[in-house]
Amino acid sequence: MKRLAVYTSGGDAPGMNACIRAVVRTAIFKGLEIYGISYGYDGMINGNIKKMHSHSVSNIIQRGGTILKSARSEQFMTKEGRKKAYDQLRTHGIEGLVAIGGDGTFTGAKVFFEEFGIPVIGCPGTIDNDIFGTDYTIGFDTAVNTALEAIDKIRDTAAAHDRIFFVEVMGRDSGYIAVECGIGGGAEFVMVPETETDIKKVVKSLKTLRKTKSSSIIVVAEGDEEGSAEQIMEKVKNKIQDEDKEFKVTTLGHIQRGGNPTARDRVLASRCGMAAIEGLIDGKSNCMAGVVSGDVLYTPFDDCISKTKPLNGDHLKLIEILSI
Ligand code: F6P
Repeated sequence: MKRLAVYTSGGDAPGMNACIRAVVRTAIFKGLEIYGISYGYDGMINGNIKKMHSHSVSNIIQRGGTILKSARSEQFMTKEGRKKAYDQLRTHGIEGLVAIGGDGTFTGAKVFFEEFGIPVIGCPGTIDNDIFGTDYTIGFDTAVNTALEAIDKIRDTAAAHDRIFFVEVMGRDSGYIAVECGIGGGAEFVMVPETETDIKKVVKSLKTLRKTKSSSIIVVAEGDEEGSAEQIMEKVKNKIQDEDKEFKVTTLGHIQRGGNPTARDRVLASRCGMAAIEGLIDGKSNCMAGVVSGDVLYTPFDDCISKTKPLNGDHLKLIEILSI
């Protein structure tokens, strides 16, 4: 194996650049040629492939986003699209791939490997932290800290006006961000897709809490089955029927996807990027390089995609206990 390529795909995550840097520099250190594919699978199909050098990744470790750009490709979901991508890789002499992204990225990589046999190793890049095979994903820590900074500010104004705030954080299918910043931000409640949200219970608790607290913060993961923070706020408000109490909603949205990665994300990204190249050199493929209990571990894509990483039940309990 002499020539490899790296790409980022799906939703971007802070730390992807640090991962690209590690992939590029490790490959060069090991005497390999490394190419960058822009715009993920779309770029692979369109031949958006360029040689990278050590200096191509200078001064990016601290930057959010991804210098390789990202996309969610419809075309790559078709056999025809994947064949075009394969032909482009052949034309450029690419013999192995590093895919930085989440489960959608890995699903594409797995199908591609099974159809065309080009070795591929993934690095877990998503703010959602919903990938089996790694304790944390690249970008999660930064997203949590961004959300936490916002929640701290919201708490100031919530307390000043005795208001109840519903703060919506990202996580289409996962409550990791909500739970982490719920604990860190001292939220009164956290609502996540993994557990049933009991509006009646929330209303009852809010009424009890009113005796000791004048303001409250409720963190809602965007994928909660009761709806968006706005919809949940309306449901709660209708049941509380308290004329004096003001309810407000803040949706943090894509602000959570940007910004300079934290130290933890930069280190994780660097470790996974290096491990991806070392894995390919060792003949590994169709798997993801993650970090579990402090050690680098390669997990088959099959498991990363099909297995879920459950939320820590103790963390949910912690929020309930500490919110009294
Ligand atoms: O998967 C990461 C994520 O940020 C989710 O939390 C969110 O639901 C989704 O991406 C948003 O995707 P897009 O940027 O395409 O709207």
